[in-house]
Amino acid sequence: MSFEKEIARRRTFGIISHPDAGKTTLTEKLLLFGGAIQEAGAVKNNKIKKTATSDFMEIERQRGISVATSVLAFIYNDIKINILDTPGHKDFAEDTFRTLTAVDSVIVVIDVAKGVEEQTEKLVEVCRMRNIPMLVFINKLDREGKDAFDLLDEVEQKLGLTVTPLSFPIGMGYDFKGIYNIFEKNINLFSGNNKSNIEDTIAFDDINSPELDKIIGEKVAIDLRDNLELVDGVYPKFSKEAYLDGKQQPVFFGSALNNFGVQELLDCFVQIAPSPRPKKAEERLVNANEKDFSGFVFKIHANMDPKHRDRLAFIKIVSGTFERNKPYLHVRHGKNLKFSSPNAFFAEKKEIVDISYPGDIVGLHDTGNFKIGDTLTNGEKLNYKGVPSFSPEHFRYINNADPMKSKQLYKGIDQLMDEGVAQLFTLELNGRKIIGTVGALQYEVIQYRLEHEYGAKCTYENFPVHKACWVQPESENDEFKEFKRVKSKFLAKDKRNQLVFLADSQFSLQMTQQKYPTVKLHFTSEFDT
Ligand code: G4P
Repeated sequence: MSFEKEIARRRTFGIISHPDAGKTTLTEKLLLFGGAIQEAGAVKNNKIKKTATSDFMEIERQRGISVATSVLAFIYNDIKINILDTPGHKDFAEDTFRTLTAVDSVIVVIDVAKGVEEQTEKLVEVCRMRNIPMLVFINKLDREGKDAFDLLDEVEQKLGLTVTPLSFPIGMGYDFKGIYNIFEKNINLFSGNNKSNIEDTIAFDDINSPELDKIIGEKVAIDLRDNLELVDGVYPKFSKEAYLDGKQQPVFFGSALNNFGVQELLDCFVQIAPSPRPKKAEERLVNANEKDFSGFVFKIHANMDPKHRDRLAFIKIVSGTFERNKPYLHVRHGKNLKFSSPNAFFAEKKEIVDISYPGDIVGLHDTGNFKIGDTLTNGEKLNYKGVPSFSPEHFRYINNADPMKSKQLYKGIDQLMDEGVAQLFTLELNGRKIIGTVGALQYEVIQYRLEHEYGAKCTYENFPVHKACWVQPESENDEFKEFKRVKSKFLAKDKRNQLVFLADSQFSLQMTQQKYPTVKLHFTSEFDT
């Protein structure tokens, strides 16, 4: 197959949702349709369970297993599908944000009864900022939920999307009969009251045909026609271009648990979802079909076995082909590296591959060369943008509890930060180190891993910070100098040596912005200068 065809047949995407909306179930059903797994339950068992919030050992154990589900790949209708796992657990939100830098599109899962929830809002906002094409799947239609039009309104308002339904439910909950597929113009019905039996698809070009009344009953048919008329009048026509530009979001309804509406979603997805998109590097825009290889690290996974300290770095291939045993430039280090056993991912296993194409993810064994955001190329000095850090929500001083082991402690901290477990800030004033995390759980994880993997011990001390803001480097004007002098107690450097202002309250942040209007503060570590 030609290089161009290999690119055109790839779809790399992530499924995002608030925990419990049905992401795992949907993933599993997609794999079942793709013939990649034989039975339900396979992915589910690997999921970081919601009950484990206070049991970090359990989370760590599952994190180990979850390497296998980090990338789930399968072939469907000759299309190579790569699903990138995005942890739904709030404490791992940063992992999810980073993974979103490696997807070409996303599917947003929403629970029909709960509607738009907090985590969905945050994740969709990130996708919207990056114009990532999004499909919405409204799940659990077998249960009583919100009215379809109310829900579409909610999605538009809370998520700031422009929706266009490509399918529409026929009834809901107890009365849920099936789905009219607007995209394909056909009807899918449950058989009788048994919601696990699905009848054959009925092609239905003309919704006004009296046949419809016979099949679903007169009243239901009238309702459906009214609803479809409203859909037609209120929502924009589906436009593939608008979807691909991130300006319009098609919506599907269904029930992942009952396999309902999933195939329709998948069939439409493979038709309309984008193959690998061009990616911005600091230097230029790189197209997938360029012959020279380039890719970037979006995730690093530690080996859970302390005897083998190697890690797996996940690289998204942006352009060209990645080949085994060929030297590639590690741009940040300025040195060439060769990889003898790059891993490719299939359904639930990984195996060594000789060649991978844009859109694919390869897992490279790493002994400490990589950090998140690193770029590998055929030789060109490129630095991919878009793996920013966000402000952590918790901040604590980290202290060395065993002075004999300070070397181990610093090495451990260094490597855990490269993996993106948390963020490190070093105070300008006295060099003290502060660890910032998204969830409180990470502190336990760090302490445990430092002890078990590096033989170092640490303690924490509270450090009240409201938000970390990255300071845009300015020419040293008087205002900037004054800001640095007055706020010196709250200034730190992050791992990339960028200056960060640690505001201790919303009030002090506002006051600082008012007092030093020319000092530009950003809420992520990447910004256009
Ligand atoms: P998540 O990954 O987004 O967190 O959600 P997950 O798929 O684990 O689904 C959360 C719960 O919702 C699960 O039930 C799952 O069975 C259920 N679910 C998913 N899709 C549907 C659907 O279409 N209809 C209905 N009625 N339920 C659905 P659970 O009881 O928490 O877990 P389990 O015991 O079934 O594994």
